[in-house]
Amino acid sequence: MLIGVSDTQKITPWEVEADEGIDYDKLSRDFGCSLIDEKMIARFEKLTGRKPHRFLRRGLFFSHREMDTILDNYEKGIPFYLYTGRGPSSDALHIGHLVPMHFTQWLQEVFDVPLVIQITDDEKFFFKENLTLEGTHKLGYENIKDIIACGFNPDKTFIFSDLDYMGTMYPVVCKLWKLMTYNQAKGAFGFVGTDNVGKSAYPAIQAAPSFSANFPHIFGKRHDISCLIPCAIDQDPFFRVTRDIAPRLKWKKPSLIHSKFFPALGGYKTKMSASGGTTIFVTDSDKMIKDKINKHCVTGGRQTVEEHRKLGADLSVDVAYEYLRYLMDDDEELERIRVAYGSPGEKNMLSGEIKQILIKVLQEIVHNHQEKRAAATDEVVQHFMNPNRESLRMFD
Ligand code: TYM
Repeated sequence: MLIGVSDTQKITPWEVEADEGIDYDKLSRDFGCSLIDEKMIARFEKLTGRKPHRFLRRGLFFSHREMDTILDNYEKGIPFYLYTGRGPSSDALHIGHLVPMHFTQWLQEVFDVPLVIQITDDEKFFFKENLTLEGTHKLGYENIKDIIACGFNPDKTFIFSDLDYMGTMYPVVCKLWKLMTYNQAKGAFGFVGTDNVGKSAYPAIQAAPSFSANFPHIFGKRHDISCLIPCAIDQDPFFRVTRDIAPRLKWKKPSLIHSKFFPALGGYKTKMSASGGTTIFVTDSDKMIKDKINKHCVTGGRQTVEEHRKLGADLSVDVAYEYLRYLMDDDEELERIRVAYGSPGEKNMLSGEIKQILIKVLQEIVHNHQEKRAAATDEVVQHFMNPNRESLRMFD
């Protein structure tokens, strides 16, 4: 059986499903990663002098591979860069996609480092039967506007489409292909004989940006710059394989920091996904957000008001509260809601009330995003996609 797949849950880069809630500690352990503990968060704070992001404070970014190496580098003034990505399978991002993007934006701001963002138009062509190559390339371009709206530093961020940038990436991809066996790809991803060969070739293409050799315009001849990859934990299998191969090329293994999944409106059993039906997209109107939350958001409110007053909400299954944990920065207000909603009491908060709070919070985030996206003109996109900018170059 694939790592990440057991009798109770199935977590792969293309599928996320669990009978009960996802057991994240087990997943991190099975993948061979480490959990982020209080000590690491305190070190983050001490080194950067910044209050840890709410995703760290609340355990939403919860697991890592060799994050300590990156913090050691930062402490010693050794440079590193950030790498994240998006597979363009829909014309708009959903709220779950904002989780790694916003966290990466925060990391870039705090550490003031270069960032590369890969748009895998090739991946979605190989893995989605109904998409054409021209189609994924076009969707990628639309997605880039949403990514720019997340506030990345225009001087230090390079966004590239695999289709456009493959010429430069090709030497690194070839080196990775030569070392990656079909058995390795099959073992990590479960490919079968009837899968198209593009699928087995693809993991090396997602691996390539983990190495500074892939970006001569930024790192010149330096092939030894460390990389930190923020992503949700579904992407980890790609980088487990990447890390296995790195020493054979005498390149540094990339470090990773993993988030949990922003759940689907219908409950914790699966992640929010673009094909999920009742998903909140960054293009939604106020009314769409309101209707989706009111109709589809699962809560832990009890069957009757009487029972709810007696017991309080069951927060362990409450998607509305979980969304607020991701989205509301104010710790005190969140705690007030937790107590008012989750505790018994004559006047405790009802599920209709927490939904109203969530609707407001989501509408504000989406408005803000839409405003910034409108400013991402074609010219701005060209700027972020131009590899030959003086401001990007770190080494000759
Ligand atoms: P994609 O487009 O499926 O997802 C983009 C990023 O969003 C994360 N993600 C989520 N995070 C929280 N909650 C969710 N419900 C949720 N759904 C998706 C993904 O983990 C990912 O970080 N193959 C990749 C593209 C890619 C990439 C990378 C991603 C290429 N290189 C390096 C991360 C890091 C993909 O299709 O992502």
